[in-house]
Amino acid sequence: MASLTVRQLDEKLKRRLRLRAAKNGRSVEDEVRTILRSAAADVESFAGTAELAHGAEAPIGPVRKTAAMRVVLIIGGGIAAYKSLDLIRRLQDRGAHVRCVLTRAAQHFVTPLAAAALAGERAYTDLFDPQSEFDVGHIRLARDADVIVVAPATADLIAKMANGHADDLATAILLATDRPILVAPAMNPRMWAAKAAQRNLAQLKADGVRLVGPNEGEMAERGEAGTGRMAEPLEIAAAAVAMLRAAGALAGRRVLITSGPTSEPLDPVRVLANRSSGKQGHAIAAAAAAAGADVVLVSGPVNLPDPPGVTVVHIETAQQMLVAVEKALPVDVAIFAAAVADWRPLHVSGSKIKKHGRPPTIALTENPDILSTVAHKKSGRPRLVVGFAAETDNVVGNAEAKLKKKGCDWILANDVSPATGIMGGDRNTVHLVTAAGVESWPPQSKADVARTLIERVTAAVTEFKR
Ligand code: CTP
Repeated sequence: MASLTVRQLDEKLKRRLRLRAAKNGRSVEDEVRTILRSAAADVESFAGTAELAHGAEAPIGPVRKTAAMRVVLIIGGGIAAYKSLDLIRRLQDRGAHVRCVLTRAAQHFVTPLAAAALAGERAYTDLFDPQSEFDVGHIRLARDADVIVVAPATADLIAKMANGHADDLATAILLATDRPILVAPAMNPRMWAAKAAQRNLAQLKADGVRLVGPNEGEMAERGEAGTGRMAEPLEIAAAAVAMLRAAGALAGRRVLITSGPTSEPLDPVRVLANRSSGKQGHAIAAAAAAAGADVVLVSGPVNLPDPPGVTVVHIETAQQMLVAVEKALPVDVAIFAAAVADWRPLHVSGSKIKKHGRPPTIALTENPDILSTVAHKKSGRPRLVVGFAAETDNVVGNAEAKLKKKGCDWILANDVSPATGIMGGDRNTVHLVTAAGVESWPPQSKADVARTLIERVTAAVTEFKR
């Protein structure tokens, strides 16, 4: 394998690496390793899942950044641990990448294999596992997450947390993390009512840990009922999402996004449309919601599920898109990722156009330019207006011209020639064009483009006065 000397990189790159490493709490060498692994994981993104299906241990590696939310789920040793397997799914339904850590006691109730199979990644169990310590380590597990969920949190685990113990992987992560922690207690009602347990809980609350549940109801022990049942997986997943959104960098900001194609009717059965899949716009909506924004997504017809936590307005035509966009205003940020049809048939036939001799000539008329309309608003203009430029030639030059003509603040330009596979594909190569110049981003998944864009938007928005 080739070796790489960080010292030989140019100063600007080194400075950026140092900043990035500091932000992520890693050494520069570790940061470089993370970037390289991430690039490799991107190429082989499904290799791990395939291996798991054949019973092999899932490969250890960095968290794929494509997930909207990264969760470390710590499973404690209680009968409710079986529900945590369902919680993995419920979190995934909300776009989360889940990494599981099982305490020794948890392994009496559920197996690491079951958790790994559901999570699609090996489950972590041991503080002194040389393989995971070398490659991931408890510090990375503690930091490479947006939220840490402890479910079930037993009386013993809560006591250890309250007192800062770190004698196993779960408690070491909990002590080392600077990320928000959500705890779902589960214990016998008498244990829950015990003074010592309540003292520990008060300490956790004072430390900023959030609680969900416990609920009232029947216990696993026959004839026992009261407060102590773990909250349901759906409640825990909802609480994790709500907590992240409230803490997100875009919390309290309203973001409007357009996505997908528009479809312009010619008659009841025929339309004028384009090949946009909506993948990029939908990924941006998911990333903005994950950052805590209040997101309205105006989408043309696509074969994609609505992103979780986003208000979606489904439309078909450019005119309907404009109406929906106007209705969503005012917003702080508007991002126009839709491939709006430039023209629509001038006349829409009420009944199917029949074949009568010669093919008909279809007269077209121009659609409203939604981006330009919003960017040129005299009052109520969003503080940041971002457009896309879908080009097949002179990508950056055309995008620079569009930036001026449309009056937006930024344009993300991409080459949609069929050979690039961008239209409809999962990856994208974009150039960020602003008044300050052009920045070319490396080829990456559309989800990563979305995250990077939202990071940039977040940085810009923090400059705005409320
Ligand atoms: N756009 C829009 N309304 C339209 C056409 C485009 O809001 N009627 C927006 C797109 O969502 C995108 C930007 O304008 O953010 C540029 O779209 P693009 O298709 O690249 O350019 P056009 O304006 O259609 O120009 P051309 O087809 O000549 O390249």
